[in-house]
Amino acid sequence: MHKDVIIVGAGGHAKVIADIVRKSGDNLVGFLDDSKEAGTEFFDAFILGKTDSYYEYPNKEFIIAIGNNAIRQKIAQKMQGVAFYTAIHPTAVIAEGVTVGEGTCVMANAVVNADAKIGKHCIINTASVVEHDNVISDYVHISPAAALAGTVTLGERTWIGIGAKVKNNTDICADVTVGAGAVVVKNITEGGTYVGVPARKVK
Ligand SMILES: CC(C)(COP(=O)(O)OP(=O)(O)OC[C@H]1O[C@@H](n2cnc3c(N)ncnc32)[C@H](O)[C@@H]1OP(=O)(O)O)[C@@H](O)C(=O)NCCC(=O)NCCS
Repeated sequence: MHKDVIIVGAGGHAKVIADIVRKSGDNLVGFLDDSKEAGTEFFDAFILGKTDSYYEYPNKEFIIAIGNNAIRQKIAQKMQGVAFYTAIHPTAVIAEGVTVGEGTCVMANAVVNADAKIGKHCIINTASVVEHDNVISDYVHISPAAALAGTVTLGERTWIGIGAKVKNNTDICADVTVGAGAVVVKNITEGGTYVGVPARKVK
């Protein structure tokens, strides 16, 4: 059965999710956004109202298209009780034994391999690789073309930057930002920003 989907947020990331909704054969009802006027056209649909008006739309599924992990978490926790949509692009490869939490999106050409567990409201971005047995906590963002080797764990809200790599059997705690192109070769046990090859803390 087709789902009626409302996207929270109306920026670039929201367009990518809208494309997935349509490619999945579901119905994009419109967008909720705090910085655009209701009635404004956006990506061949309309802004329906502000984020707080979500309760006016029963029987719809929602997905939060906000890239900032902490803000996405705040909105998701406020919207408790609604049904969240999980967006998986038709070209994404999801192996056997994988679980994907509600509100998560898996973009085009991403690969999530055997027995990986992905939490709620995560972003598994374009052409990223989440290898076998990874455990990805809620509100994580894995940017385009980033790759996590086997048996990596990521804590809540951690952000892996574009093209970054994480060695197999590595644990990264919550609230870590791994910069674009970095290579993580050791466990990270303290929140903060890590860049370079091998990745080192900058702040
Ligand atoms: C790591 C990052 C978060 C730091 O951002 P920031 O806090 O604004 O830091 P700045 O841009 O002020 O850079 C601070 C310093 O770190 C360096 N730096 C920043 N990012 C770096 C990276 N990825 N690798 C190596 N060095 C980096 C800068 O050159 C600068 O060095 P300097 O002080 O010698 O001039 C950011 O640069 C980054 O890599 N973001 C990932 C973006 C991404 O993946 N986007 C995908 C969206 S889908």
